Amino acid sequence: MLAGRMNSLPSSGIRRVFDLAAALKDPIDLSMGQPNFDVPEPIKQAAISAIRDGYNGYTVTQGIPELRERISRSLAQEFDWQPSVLVTSGVSGGLTLALMATINPGDEVIVPDPYFVSYPHLVELCGGKAVTVSLYDSFRLDPQRIANALTDRTKAIMVNSPGNPTGTVHAAEDIEAVSRLARDRGLLVISDEIYNRLCYDGPASSPVQFAPEQTLLLRGFGKTYGMTGWRMGFAAGPTDIIAAMAKLQQYTFVCAPHMAQRGCLAAFDTDMTDQIDAYRRKRDLAVAELANHFEFVAPSGGFFVFAKVPKRYESGERFMEAALAKNVLLIPGHAFSRRDTHFRISYAVDNERLRRGCSILRDLAG
Ligand SMILES: Cc1ncc(COP(=O)(O)O)c(C=O)c1O
Repeated sequence: MLAGRMNSLPSSGIRRVFDLAAALKDPIDLSMGQPNFDVPEPIKQAAISAIRDGYNGYTVTQGIPELRERISRSLAQEFDWQPSVLVTSGVSGGLTLALMATINPGDEVIVPDPYFVSYPHLVELCGGKAVTVSLYDSFRLDPQRIANALTDRTKAIMVNSPGNPTGTVHAAEDIEAVSRLARDRGLLVISDEIYNRLCYDGPASSPVQFAPEQTLLLRGFGKTYGMTGWRMGFAAGPTDIIAAMAKLQQYTFVCAPHMAQRGCLAAFDTDMTDQIDAYRRKRDLAVAELANHFEFVAPSGGFFVFAKVPKRYESGERFMEAALAKNVLLIPGHAFSRRDTHFRISYAVDNERLRRGCSILRDLAG
């Protein structure tokens, strides 16, 4: 009964870790891609009030005007940019609609590798070809490597800074060079900036600064405000693409959750400095705990470390299994890459668990 497209769609490498972990009692879970702080009280209250006040029906597909207005205002302040805006069901919703709206069968999409788990699969579900470009071992967004991968079938370039799984914040000159390339070749840049507020060594650059007309910006609320389950994000960019995404959203997601949209209005007035400072300290802790035992590029954003598997394990998968046997959950690199030479841990856990988890990983490294 299944469609042919399901044959080529593997289940996520992350899901397998969760399935294996189900048998463990109280594991040290360094696999989670979500913050360990709770949604700030004023945002919770705004969503609770919305439910009580009867904001429980559909909204217009584009999102409630008040929220779109706040998003537009913040983008105008940050970039002096007036794009069209669509509120989406998480950044995943934005990615799905963006690729459905722009990718024809046979089109190629440049996907820097390592990448967020869904990118190649979503491209391929649209009939496109994900052309991965290795960024190993520096994880630098090397414009020359990207340029070398372009063909006359290339339609779009994916950019993700800060990145999952590496935590890399790409250098402004590399973002600029890749944006220029896109402009010169008439390509779309799909810039996934879900971690844009979680930057610890200075802000991340955006393709919007260098090629605003070529950029489709995707951002989210889930990681910044600890509300991944609320499924809130937005897309901003060229009017024709946003209109096409809105049309598709009518037939698919319909709208982002109404009470969550109202809650997110309060997010714009909520100061997250304390949480971000705490995450900077967690980053420092994770780096200090793993340094001298693992090879990795110290992350500047997000909440992950992507480190090389120690020599005596053949692959990320083997290292994941060894860690699992010691009650530690991590994600093997193949979930985010054509290669399986690395592993990802999340430091979005309490410091005590992070220390214990890293100590076990150090023992495994020998
Ligand atoms: C880079 C990146 N993009 C998109 C997503 C999906 O975000 P959302 O939960 O808003 O759909 C994630 C979640 O882990 C991510 O890391």
